[in-house]
Amino acid sequence: MIHEPARLEIFLTKLAFFFYGKSVYKAFADRLPLVGNERVLDFGCGMGTVAYYTARRLTDGHLTCIDISERWLKICRKTLRGYKNVTFLHAGAPAQPENSFDMVYCHFVLHDIADSELEAVVTALVKSLKSGGILIFREPLNEAEKLNIIKGLISQSQLILKSSRITDVPLMGNALESVYIK
Ligand SMILES: C[S@@+](CC[C@H](N)C(=O)[O-])C[C@H]1O[C@@H](n2cnc3c(N)ncnc32)[C@H](O)[C@@H]1O
Repeated sequence: MIHEPARLEIFLTKLAFFFYGKSVYKAFADRLPLVGNERVLDFGCGMGTVAYYTARRLTDGHLTCIDISERWLKICRKTLRGYKNVTFLHAGAPAQPENSFDMVYCHFVLHDIADSELEAVVTALVKSLKSGGILIFREPLNEAEKLNIIKGLISQSQLILKSSRITDVPLMGNALESVYIK
């Protein structure tokens, strides 16, 4: 389901990025196990909060930012205007050929997707990963039912859980952060 953000939502997100950019988004981006030459997908990039910090780590790599919302994607282009190693795609699931990415991450995205659409989205994300590639999500812990569906779909896809941790995210509460390998 496409949801275009209202002005207030955009304003509040920009405010959160300004005040919590380092403690929320940079902290997550810095934990991504990257060397710097990978091809990475930020699925549901929003205004580019995490992408802003990931792109600078990919000194010899490439970041693809996908969002279903044209308005968020337009803002994301502005947030990342200084970077040459980023591609922006307006889509509801990865449209890339299979085995395109070394890493796919979703930061507070999957819990927003309707149950009926989740299977197709997770399948496409997994397909877009190279063998040995990494899938990482961080989603709110209070969405317990949705988390169970997400975890079930990922393990059905034969990905192996490498690690899981609970992080306390300012403004958003506790979140589950899990790392899987294909
Ligand atoms: C809560 S925001 C998180 C944005 C960003 N990842 C962050 O942490 O700031 C969720 C984002 O996922 C996007 N989204 C939701 N469903 C999507 C889908 N099926 N495909 C691509 N993007 C989607 C929304 O448009 C929105 O930008």
